[in-house]
Amino acid sequence: MQSSDIHSFEDYQKAYNYSIEQPEKFWEEQANKLKWTKKWDKTLQWNFDEPNIKWFEGGQLNITENCLDRHLERRGNKIALIWEPNDPKERFLRLTYKELYDRVCQMANVLKRNGISKGDVVCIYMPMIPELTVSVLACARIGAIHSVVFAGFSASALAGRIEDAQAKLILTSDGLNRGAKQIPTKRIVDEALENCPSVEKVIVVDRLGWAVDMKEGRDSYLHNELPLVDKNCPPTPMDAEDPLFILYTSGSTGKPKGVVHTTAGYAIFVDYTFRNVFQMNESDSFWCTADIGWVTGHSYIVYGPLLAGATTTMFEGVPTFPDPGRFWQVIDKYGITHFYTAPTAIRSLMAAGEDHVLSYSLDSLKVIGSVGEPINEEAWHWYNIHVGKERCPIVDTWWQTETAGIMISSLAGVTPTKPSYAAYPLPGVQPVLLDGDGKELHGNSVEGYLCIKYPWPGILRTTYGDHERCRQTYFSNYKGYYFTGDGAKRDENGLYRIIGRVDDVINVSGHRFGTAEIENAININQKVVESAVVGYPHDIKGQGIYAFVILWDEGANENPDRIRSEINETITAEIGKIAKPDKIQIVRGLPKTRSGKIMRRILRKIAENELGSLGDTSTLLDPTVVDEIIEGRL
Ligand code: PRX
Repeated sequence: MQSSDIHSFEDYQKAYNYSIEQPEKFWEEQANKLKWTKKWDKTLQWNFDEPNIKWFEGGQLNITENCLDRHLERRGNKIALIWEPNDPKERFLRLTYKELYDRVCQMANVLKRNGISKGDVVCIYMPMIPELTVSVLACARIGAIHSVVFAGFSASALAGRIEDAQAKLILTSDGLNRGAKQIPTKRIVDEALENCPSVEKVIVVDRLGWAVDMKEGRDSYLHNELPLVDKNCPPTPMDAEDPLFILYTSGSTGKPKGVVHTTAGYAIFVDYTFRNVFQMNESDSFWCTADIGWVTGHSYIVYGPLLAGATTTMFEGVPTFPDPGRFWQVIDKYGITHFYTAPTAIRSLMAAGEDHVLSYSLDSLKVIGSVGEPINEEAWHWYNIHVGKERCPIVDTWWQTETAGIMISSLAGVTPTKPSYAAYPLPGVQPVLLDGDGKELHGNSVEGYLCIKYPWPGILRTTYGDHERCRQTYFSNYKGYYFTGDGAKRDENGLYRIIGRVDDVINVSGHRFGTAEIENAININQKVVESAVVGYPHDIKGQGIYAFVILWDEGANENPDRIRSEINETITAEIGKIAKPDKIQIVRGLPKTRSGKIMRRILRKIAENELGSLGDTSTLLDPTVVDEIIEGRL
């Protein structure tokens, strides 16, 4: 294992101060830990106005050479990847670094054989099977840009992402397992491809042994492709700023945007954060329960652990199948030492009762982590007592798709923790809190908008095909700063607590949705005049989705449950089941200002059941709608 640089709080303080005083030198030292085909000429060039951010220009490396080839001599026989299937009775798989390397090279040659070369976009729509990790790395091996789309998204959402990126090839599977359910992945791809002329080839992994439709000339099975290719595939040297991947994420306006990360900066940042936050040893095993369809899976299932030469784990199933003890059973089965999951999973397992967790020893655990949303104190303590047995440090890691890797977190066992606080920024990360006028709030015990004032190597470079959108979303609210969209508080000791989104983004079970995105889907229903969507606190999911919907007259006379299920169907078709509202209230009107703007603040208060703090409603176009909405509250 490539080890951590920081072993004490004092080391952290030194590293932090150094990274602020000499940021370029600090990151050069980290960059030097990777293997470069060609050294860089210029460490950093940047401005946050355009934005234009370039790290290590002139340098060349391939991230897979760093994840695989580099480890072969010392760790060729070490387990790189553990794969745990959905069904605990099915055989698991373990791949050594050498075996993973071979598979990646072969898969890369399959891509080449199918016309893919450097700079092409490959869309990956797959379940959590080993081929997913192999596919991601195979793209990176030959410089193809991967765009992984979470396999819970609908055909329409998938088509939008394929079209936006102009993907040439899709990697998918016949179907997928999710707990007791099976989902027809290939059929969803076929439906998406009805409107995606850029796609020339589809390669299908036979996961379930289903006989799926295969389109002549376009579709082929991976098992038929593999015998046709060579086992060797040298890594393509990539320029430091060549795009590595696109990952779509929701924002407060419009359709999801393709966040672009580039090769060297991403590799350096993910490598540094993985090693220092988790503090692993050579014989440890890491398990991040995220799906590779989200950034957490990219950075801390695939790239971070493999860059460090660690053993990483992929899990195909869900935490509650066949019962809510599954996570704990898997930890015992493989002797997992480092476990990284989401608060929503912790809360749902907490709700299932302690017996499930108490049936397993969890003796192997050393560090436990949390990511994706604020972790409430109750869940933090439950995690600490029942999973960590009060001996494993908890790392509450704050970061985003756009930041590539962990930005604010304690370093396991090294820097202080505090329940529900992400704690201190990592070295190289310069967070600030701004007030409503964009002024920096200095000192401690303050609360404001969380921004970052200096680039780090993993910062997003653009949003695919629309640089102006990137500028507007992240760099225009507060001039000279990257704006995270989150509010945060700094306590009396300088520890950060993330409060949550301050924009129109809802975080449901750690997944981001724009309210506008859900409203657009609801409004597709012909019976809907208009809708407004807000988030509200939800015991398990963190935030739930509350939709207020106005219907045309014909709809208003129908059974509301029928309308609700129609709306749910439209959302499932447009985005996916994961975006279905928890509550749909049919209303006669929405609270609007005289200029026609929906007062979301009022709707949010109603959804949160904070009826005492609605504020002044007398300036609304029609104040009586508020009383009606309150009366019909769900
Ligand atoms: O609001 C913050 C929340 O998740 C958002 C980022 O979502 P996404 O890009 O999907 O990435 C999730 C995985 C990194 C943030 O703007 N968030 C993430 N981690 C935390 C968090 N909120 C509080 N505490 C965290 N540890």
